[in-house]
Amino acid sequence: MAEKKEPRKVTTHTLQEMKQAGEKIAMLTAYDYSMALAIDAAGIDVILVGDSASNVMAGHETTLPITLEHMIYHAQSVIRAVKRALVVVDLPFGTYQGNSKEALNSSIRIMKESGAHAVKLEGGKEVEDSVKRILSAGIPVMGHLGLTPQSIYKFGTYTVRAKEEAEANKLLEDANILQEAGCFGLVLEKIPATLAGEVTKRLSIPTIGIGAGNLVDGQVLVLHDMLGLTTEFHPRFLRRYANLYTDITGAVTNYISDVKSKDFPNEKEQY
Ligand code: KIV
Repeated sequence: MAEKKEPRKVTTHTLQEMKQAGEKIAMLTAYDYSMALAIDAAGIDVILVGDSASNVMAGHETTLPITLEHMIYHAQSVIRAVKRALVVVDLPFGTYQGNSKEALNSSIRIMKESGAHAVKLEGGKEVEDSVKRILSAGIPVMGHLGLTPQSIYKFGTYTVRAKEEAEANKLLEDANILQEAGCFGLVLEKIPATLAGEVTKRLSIPTIGIGAGNLVDGQVLVLHDMLGLTTEFHPRFLRRYANLYTDITGAVTNYISDVKSKDFPNEKEQY
């Protein structure tokens, strides 16, 4: 009998090869087993266990409250489902900033306790030492520049970043610092498309955009947003591929009605 072939796993090297070949990288968030199973089976390249779990799973207004323990729990659930995708886990707020030793310890906990493949952190020059220290333990690191939601109280709003020359130049410098420090990839969030294109041209590592136009090496969206499970978030960059909120409320309304009318369960649905 012919052996069932396991899909070829995506690694950080695969992403590098994809950039070189001009093949776009598709990345989505996931925080639980069932969703991760479905998007991995669909062929997604990278799954981000994002700290956006704080918003979409726990209902917080920002990403700040989520803890390392929560992130590890979500990552463990995702890892159990994944056969092919590269799984990257966000280092949550307060577990890496300003202390490279803590950054390393947090990353080791994520890798050891969840079996994830890489970590992601926000910021440029400020996190350079942390990136180097995490990498010294052999843990791949992804950077994140532009709109960095963990700094929302510094920015004050979720509007487009780096429209002014000074901030755009700082972003270009930070991107270079992260690449030199050894990051394998870089998320660019909500910045002008031309700037994202410029970063992508200057860097040899892949860039993944969210609200950063199409001159980048790949795209990422929050799964719950693109599936239409969240309904109150309408940024220009968000394309909705389904309307699950409507589908779910419709299905549940039908279920309630069937239970109340004694239509469910019927003869065939009982023992
Ligand atoms: O946490 C997250 O979902 C993210 C993406 C927006 C890139 O960091």
